[in-house]
Amino acid sequence: MTRVAITDTTFRDAHQSLIATRMRTRDLLPIAEKMDSVGFFSLEVWGGATFDVCIRFLNEDPWDRLRSLKEVITETPLQMLLRGQNLVGYRNYPDDVVIKFVEKSAENGVDIFRIFDALNDVRNMEIPIIAAKKTGAHVQGTISYTISPVHTIETFVAFAGELASLECDSICIKDMAGLISPHTAHDLIKALKDEVGLPIDLHSHSTSGMASMSYLAASRAGVDILDTAFSPFSGGASQPPTETVVASLNETPYDTGLDLVLLTEIKKYFAEMRWKYRSILDPISETIDTSVLVHQIPGGMLSNLVSQLKEQDAMDRYDDVLLEMPKVREDLGYPPLVTPTSQIVGTQAVLNVLMGERYKVIPKEVRDYVCGIYGKPPAPVSEWLISKVLGEETDVIVTCRPADLLKPELAKRTREAEELGIVKKEEDILTYALYPQIAPKFLRGEAEEEELRPATATTATTATAGVPNHAGAYNKFKVVVDGEAFDVAIEPTGATAIEEKRLPPDAASVEGGVRSNMQGMILGLKVEKGDAVEKGDVVAVIEAMKMENNLHASQSGIVREIFVSEGDTVGTGDVVMSIY
Ligand code: CO
Repeated sequence: MTRVAITDTTFRDAHQSLIATRMRTRDLLPIAEKMDSVGFFSLEVWGGATFDVCIRFLNEDPWDRLRSLKEVITETPLQMLLRGQNLVGYRNYPDDVVIKFVEKSAENGVDIFRIFDALNDVRNMEIPIIAAKKTGAHVQGTISYTISPVHTIETFVAFAGELASLECDSICIKDMAGLISPHTAHDLIKALKDEVGLPIDLHSHSTSGMASMSYLAASRAGVDILDTAFSPFSGGASQPPTETVVASLNETPYDTGLDLVLLTEIKKYFAEMRWKYRSILDPISETIDTSVLVHQIPGGMLSNLVSQLKEQDAMDRYDDVLLEMPKVREDLGYPPLVTPTSQIVGTQAVLNVLMGERYKVIPKEVRDYVCGIYGKPPAPVSEWLISKVLGEETDVIVTCRPADLLKPELAKRTREAEELGIVKKEEDILTYALYPQIAPKFLRGEAEEEELRPATATTATTATAGVPNHAGAYNKFKVVVDGEAFDVAIEPTGATAIEEKRLPPDAASVEGGVRSNMQGMILGLKVEKGDAVEKGDVVAVIEAMKMENNLHASQSGIVREIFVSEGDTVGTGDVVMSIY
């Protein structure tokens, strides 16, 4: 009988799942030393969405976050989540960028690399695994768990065998949507223990309400590590609570040996943080949602989906999108839903619902997926979708390792970054290589930290006198004057700045106006004023929901006026240019 070890995810997955990864480094550091003293197997602190969110929304250097945590956390291994060849981005990067990124991650403090691929395509994992092994780090080869007609215990065990042959040190079952049942957890772990022989980690989410039960079943099947998060950031789309799991296994053969009193002390800190961030805590993400057993959307995606729909002002279509999701997934050959396939399936489902016609708009990423650019789907993509997306050009479908198609980029990116004058340290080149669109602004110091949104009326009702104020956390007050209570709301200025940037104000009056069909950012303009275009030509590319979407000319003619520049934010219905 073995003790069960615990990986705490509060610094990464938990806040990614519940508050869209918005926890600031300055809110992690004060509790880091205490976290280090618990005796966790590891602390998951980096990777996943943290990198992107740091530079895009928090004006924080992700490398600084890692280094400053490493300075304080000296005993417990630091763990990161690496999306295989996608690193911490949403597409495959060439091998030279992958190898450099892994080296620098280890150098800055990552001790354990949890490496996965959304399609369980081992070809997308080989290079990062080999690179991580070379640094001397512990490599956790990861199975993206899902349920479908083509995923069985046998196929998962066979995949784990491939990971073992790449010399992975342990195997993680990554159940990102909380789909694994206690029974399956037991059988899968037993099979993996018997046939692969490596330590097994079970990583689940409480989304469907089964995770805690599955953890107990996993313990009985001999699991070595369980992933949990401190109770204030647990449950719902996040992990099961650390304290509860520790207490449940207490005085059993699987006893974690962790100190519940110490855990409870730490919990108090995270309770304060939950209060601080409560305005962005989405009720849908924090609730148990059994419909996940049908739609399979993972925790992180669920909160992203909600914000996408809010962004498109279409929250009333939420249920329709959940119904569309499994259909799109089937069309695409049952990919497990995790970044980036969750975004690909999720965004296509959103578009299918919002456009009123399935596959009327197909983002570049979906086309790439169909072409095999992301790897081999678990089952073939539907024939009719292939012909819808590619027409006769089926010869563009690739069968090789996707990254074999990519030329080395590091030298070119280094040159570009130096020319832009944004390189202060070597890591800045990687930040730029990963996010060439948004990194320059950040690295130039021109990015701004997003303000914590004001709490809505419902979430602020508990904000009454006597509750400590955490750095301006609350903004609705009850003011009592001569025995009479007044409700006062204080809103930060600039909170509605995005709303004001709608272009141009009077869209109806523009002749031949080409309208944006979604809320997003102008990534590129494909025409100039004076160009002649044909109906259907791509005139602009809009980045919406992290996908690139083409905007087509609605009629043939001359480009008379362009109302936007690259980088501008546009709303649904905004006129981008006029063509007539
Ligand atoms: Co997760």
